[in-house]
Amino acid sequence: MIDTAALFSVPLVDLGERDARFRGILTPAPELAQRPTGITAQFLENAEAYHQRFSNTAYFRLLIEQALAATPLATSAPLILDLGSGSGNSVWPCLDLFADAQVVATDLSPNLLAILRDHAASRGADAARLTTVCMDATRDYYAADRFDFAVGAAILHHLIDPVAALAAVHRALKPGGIALFFEPFENGNALLMLAYEDLIAEAATQPLREDVLAFLKRMVHDFRVRSAIRPEQPGFAELDDKWIFTKRWFERAAEACGYRELRIEPLHDLDRPFANQTRANLNMGLGLPPEVLPDWAWARIDRLDQAFSPDLRADLLIEGRVVLRK
Ligand SMILES: C[S@@+](CC[C@H](N)C(=O)[O-])C[C@H]1O[C@@H](n2cnc3c(N)ncnc32)[C@H](O)[C@@H]1O
Repeated sequence: MIDTAALFSVPLVDLGERDARFRGILTPAPELAQRPTGITAQFLENAEAYHQRFSNTAYFRLLIEQALAATPLATSAPLILDLGSGSGNSVWPCLDLFADAQVVATDLSPNLLAILRDHAASRGADAARLTTVCMDATRDYYAADRFDFAVGAAILHHLIDPVAALAAVHRALKPGGIALFFEPFENGNALLMLAYEDLIAEAATQPLREDVLAFLKRMVHDFRVRSAIRPEQPGFAELDDKWIFTKRWFERAAEACGYRELRIEPLHDLDRPFANQTRANLNMGLGLPPEVLPDWAWARIDRLDQAFSPDLRADLLIEGRVVLRK
């Protein structure tokens, strides 16, 4: 059993005392007085639909394996802090990759953590290596110098203040401990959105399905909002995806929090990054296959892929892996 109390600087209480649905999920006592902010319905009341649609532990296992091959942990029995765990896309790979790991899975959504808790119960012995804690990742309730490894899959860009989360993780990590995040980046997405704007303009004279056209418009709109809005502006907290990062943003944040090392690598395919990302966007966003984009549109996207040398493609970031060392 994990001695969870020793990992936090404040008392933990069982959320089940307030709401029987969430029995077994812990929360730092001060969180009971806070109202959840900056989190959208898809993670709360619509958690089951979100879980059904976006569960993909195999993908995250591959990403975590690749990251740890490049930056191995100092121990084979790590104490792991998972941030924004949701229903467990990065939690299960951590438990599977390290037979002696213990994982503290945190999230602001008790609904998603309840799905994770129930799945843990069906995995027998694994349940003893996992604790679920409902908390806002931007608040620092951790005891200092406890964790070997912190991981966050697609969490920082949802937070109102991701630097606060990085600072809290820094304190929670042991010296030399590693933090790993998978996040969207502006430079690759900016180029892709320019290409999508061209597709939208050309659709005036070329065939393109209405739902695909509407989807491209939504993606461009979402990107434009995210890359322009500042946290102090009205509406920021209500956005689902709030941030789209740059390398410089992480360099500044890593320095401000005191991390000793920062490495950022692209997650995308280096051969045809924009075509592959477009396939993923159609699949994740619309549940549709690549064929819904006509040949003329694929030709535009191929031209974008071919505009860059292999070296420059490796410098582009659409989705990136961020590794920080305390
Ligand atoms: C894109 S999902 C990723 C979930 C999970 N890591 C995965 O890969 O499936 C973002 C997660 O962040 C959580 N979240 C949003 N705001 C949060 C906050 N302020 N503190 C902690 N978790 C938060 C959501 O509930 C959701 O589970």
